[in-house]
Amino acid sequence: MTTTTDRQQRVGLATCSVLPDLDPGDRPIIGALADRGVTAEPVVWDDPDVDWAAYDLVVVRSTWDYSPRRDEFLRWADRVPRLANPADVLRWNTDKGYLRTLEAAGVPVIPTIWLDPSRHFSKRAVHTRMPAFGDFVVKPVVSAGAQDTGRYQPVSAQSRGLAIQHAVELLDGGRAVMIQPYVTSVDTAGETCLVFVDGQFRHAARKNALLTGPRPTAGLYQEETMSAVEATEAQIEVATRALDVARAELGRTEQFLYARVDLVNQDDGTPMLIELELTEPSLWMQYAGDAKTLDALADAIVARL
Ligand SMILES: Nc1ncnc2c1ncn2[C@@H]1O[C@H](COP(=O)(O)OP(=O)(O)O)[C@@H](O)[C@H]1O
Ligand SMILES: [Mg+2]
Repeated sequence: MTTTTDRQQRVGLATCSVLPDLDPGDRPIIGALADRGVTAEPVVWDDPDVDWAAYDLVVVRSTWDYSPRRDEFLRWADRVPRLANPADVLRWNTDKGYLRTLEAAGVPVIPTIWLDPSRHFSKRAVHTRMPAFGDFVVKPVVSAGAQDTGRYQPVSAQSRGLAIQHAVELLDGGRAVMIQPYVTSVDTAGETCLVFVDGQFRHAARKNALLTGPRPTAGLYQEETMSAVEATEAQIEVATRALDVARAELGRTEQFLYARVDLVNQDDGTPMLIELELTEPSLWMQYAGDAKTLDALADAIVARL
């Protein structure tokens, strides 16, 4: 018979070197786990001296610098023996190509034109793929925090020129590009971020519009203005469907420890997906109200130990 020791269980909360103590929004997880008799500590994902096998579970949290180093990040995830969300989920979710899979399965997503660098598009070919009417967005398929994301106007030759330059620079850097219509309801209704723990919807937060023009690039992420909001039934339904499809696609029976589903409104007011975040979402627990998202997360972590 194996004897379990009384050793205190240890959880690593993976973060990045510029936030070695985690994002402030995530720090309460440490106290919530301590209340449950579990020791949790921040760990920097690319710190070479960490013994990842020493943790009973590593939970990905504020690893916000991964996007320019996605391969390195995924190699790290492969090396961590017990990781949530696990490496296969991170691999699938860190490339927004997953939106095509969700769309094919009937989840409403923002209509997107996909440009792959292997096609060696000329400037002219890039130009012809940009919408003729309405503002549009150029962004890389691997990105976080609105980095390298810009908003452009087709009616202005100067703006079109900047958009082409933006897309061509990303493609020349070997990065695949997405072109989308700018969803104007983002300016009035914002984005609704639905937070799920262990497959259960907990609470929502509203994120205001971020894009005013060509790529703002400095910094780890664009500063976000958030507020509390109630999710509608229709939003919860679309978000749940997106998560079900993601699990089916990944062949998972287990629920995701954490998930955030970001929705915007179509012209008719119905929800559509802008992003499904299974990697390192802010969970905006400060907007949870009575939803007890923090307790749910701590319980779900303990249940995985
Ligand atoms: N098609 C779009 N219409 C309106 N706003 C957009 C669109 N695409 C991106 N944005 C804005 O840019 C931000 C970042 O884009 P997103 O796709 O969420 O990527 P990430 O958060 O991974 O950088 C969004 O929060 C939103 O404010
Ligand atoms: Mg986003």
